Amino acid sequence: MEWRRKHVLGLADFSTEEMEFVVDTARSMEEVLTRDIKKVPALRGKTVINLFFESSTRTRTSFEIAGKRLSADVVNFSSAASSVSKGETLLDTAKNIDAMKPSIIVLRHPASGAAHFLSRHVSCSVINAGDGSNEHPTQGLLDLYAILKVKKKVKGLKISIIGDILHSRVVRSNLHSLGRMGANLYLCGPSTLVPKEMSRGGVTVTNDIREAVRDADVVMMLRIQLERQKTAYFPSLREYSRKYGLNTEVFSLAKKDAVIMHPGPINRGVELSDELADSSQSIILNQVETGVAIRMALLYLLAGGYGASH
Ligand code: CP
Repeated sequence: MEWRRKHVLGLADFSTEEMEFVVDTARSMEEVLTRDIKKVPALRGKTVINLFFESSTRTRTSFEIAGKRLSADVVNFSSAASSVSKGETLLDTAKNIDAMKPSIIVLRHPASGAAHFLSRHVSCSVINAGDGSNEHPTQGLLDLYAILKVKKKVKGLKISIIGDILHSRVVRSNLHSLGRMGANLYLCGPSTLVPKEMSRGGVTVTNDIREAVRDADVVMMLRIQLERQKTAYFPSLREYSRKYGLNTEVFSLAKKDAVIMHPGPINRGVELSDELADSSQSIILNQVETGVAIRMALLYLLAGGYGASH
């Protein structure tokens, strides 16, 4: 396949061939990660700027590591320590950064659509590292790859995503990646946090965690995003945890070889018990490891001679 994409803004318009191509490229990137010296010169002379307007542990760090493994110059921009704190707009900030001729801007922003907006105003490539509750495409791709590694396929698997579906950009990207690859998707949470409209296209919506977990191959738990909630969606965290938290008793309904996923950060004891988070069936840290390879693949495809303008 020939890679023609300049930006990665979401998975809504990704074909299955493109997703498979990214996963195949990530597979070859993983070989670099097994070497003593985990570095190749693929992006020497290219600059990647991590422009993060929201906090992040996994995504920002793995983009930084991915860029450095490919020998790019990686610059981390934090909004708190920048002129954004003096009132500079996203557009002015981005145009100033673009004037310094990076190859790629990796943007995380609390506003849905921020990455699309930026891509129309800068000349470099833009990767969406999470925009509001819209999309988190690199998470959607790394989740796809993490499942393929352990289950060897996605088609026909029962994959249940449980928690704050309403505010989750991870769900929206996974509906495209896992949905398009033929997963049998279940979305579960309190009725206030699971929009009924999401039940189209072969997706089952349920408010019953037992229905979601029963015979599941993959159970993906999500954090309650209190920072995006403008009203009370459930009586208390304690009650939420009692009805929608995953514990060993509920997880015993899943298939024997089922795996547990979580994009992080985990609120231990709320959506997931300590015991399960640290169990042998948890592939949460495998997701993080896979994220570096997926981000290396995307940086390489965008800046390594395929789509970049600088
Ligand atoms: N999964 C994820 O986006 O985690 P961070 O917020 O730590 O980047």
